Amino acid sequence: MFWTTLLLLHCVLVLFLILSNRSRSKKEPPLDKGIIPWLGHALEFGRDASKFLTRMKLKHGDIFTVRVAGHYVTVLLDPDSYDAVLQDSVTLDFTRYAQVLMQRIFSLSLPNHNNSTEKALMMRHFQGDSLTCLNSVMEGNLQALLQSETIQDQKNWKQDGLFNFCYSLLFRAGYLTLFGAEQSNHYTDSSAVYKEFRKFDSLLTKMARNMLNPEEKRIAGSVRQQLWSLLSAALPGEKTEDTWLQNYLQHLKDEAVDEEMQKRAMLLQLWATQGNVGPAAFWLLGFLLINPEAMNAVKKEFDSLLLQADSPQGLPFDKLQNTPVFDSVLNETLRLTAAPFITREVLHSKTLCMADGREYDIRKGDRMCLFPYISPQMDPEIHEEPEKFKYDRFLNSNGSEKREFYKGGRRLKYYTMPWGAGKNKCVGQQFAISSIKQLLLMVLTRLDLELCDPASTMPKGNPSRYGFGVLQPEGDMEIRYKLRCTL
Ligand code: HEM
Repeated sequence: MFWTTLLLLHCVLVLFLILSNRSRSKKEPPLDKGIIPWLGHALEFGRDASKFLTRMKLKHGDIFTVRVAGHYVTVLLDPDSYDAVLQDSVTLDFTRYAQVLMQRIFSLSLPNHNNSTEKALMMRHFQGDSLTCLNSVMEGNLQALLQSETIQDQKNWKQDGLFNFCYSLLFRAGYLTLFGAEQSNHYTDSSAVYKEFRKFDSLLTKMARNMLNPEEKRIAGSVRQQLWSLLSAALPGEKTEDTWLQNYLQHLKDEAVDEEMQKRAMLLQLWATQGNVGPAAFWLLGFLLINPEAMNAVKKEFDSLLLQADSPQGLPFDKLQNTPVFDSVLNETLRLTAAPFITREVLHSKTLCMADGREYDIRKGDRMCLFPYISPQMDPEIHEEPEKFKYDRFLNSNGSEKREFYKGGRRLKYYTMPWGAGKNKCVGQQFAISSIKQLLLMVLTRLDLELCDPASTMPKGNPSRYGFGVLQPEGDMEIRYKLRCTL
């Protein structure tokens, strides 16, 4: 009996190795399977994707296929050729891989889900007049939260980590703006959601990679439950208003999504709308605090706009649109810290044509992945001294926005890509930019805020978060702040 079982196991293993032993055909990109059967490069990829993909680029060039936990992923790192992927939404599908992540991270399954209806809904609510309205609600919420943080004790400094300060304020204000209208006890509730969300967020990359240990799995399950119940308390019973949340819920109901999945979908939306803005504001404010020249340039720009304001309370937000210096600082911040993977599932085998004329066969069932962080964002051929923060990198000498960047003598369409590009470009870009600008304006005009240690340096990004949007720091920067007495 023992020998039969052993023989069977042996046969299964040999069969498995034969089946998973793919070889490269001449017209395919270089193939690197790694030495571990099935797992391939999964561990190195998960530890620090940027380092791993940079190593692969040096070995194979700007297109190659790697094996990662049973999947074959073709990575393209030539920004001139990105349109070959971004413009092909027929063969290269955005939603299937998104559904895999939805299941792993949010335990959410929406099998008949219509992504285009959902996207059209978002575009309606996050653009034009609706966006102006959202911006003004967001501004009110930010102000109220900042007041409630500082009001009890106006004279003394309050201390916090800069990451927590930015993430907490923007997350809670964003939550109240998009999810909190139905709540009676707004501010306490938003703090509870933030607290649980941070626990959830800290396990997110491991959930996405299916790498939680049993204890982490238990914590992830209970935090998810807690967030589902906090969020379902904010769910409107009936559709009474024309808000994004109410219309989104109605859309799920129209698709016959049951109540349990509706609740889970709320957490997905909370993450999609709030997961990147706070971390982005942290890096921006951090870079400004340690670069006095950049801070002065932004202050000067805001001051000159404030001089045009009618009231001492500040500037109506719609007047704050023309801010090339702030825009350059934000572009530069995101160039250094926004590191999403742009992943597509290959639905049919296809030939990928690169900008320089090379052609590669891509197999059905594989994944295509762009990683703009390596190129264009950190590419020394495009951005001089790419590891340095230069606040005016995206400014022309006449103060207008710089849009001309070159590689190998060719002008680039994609020279930084924090918001993605093409059909699936970020729908929330304008709302995110406005929120960060509002927070910065409030910090600069209403608070005294400084580093506890003036010699602080920027913390490093946590390498396990490459691929998941804006990086988060390893450690924090201690700050102290108080309301300005004059206001
Ligand atoms: C700093 C903040 C943010 C960054 C860096 C960011 C980045 C991105 C990127 C890179 C993509 C493209 C993903 C791909 O092509 O695979 C994306 C998509 C998306 N983003 Fe954002 N995002 C941010 C904030 C927001 C906010 C505030 C919202 C909503 C209010 C939002 C809603 C979306 C949605 C709905 C999509 C999917 C679009 C589609 O289905 O085609 N994002 N975002």
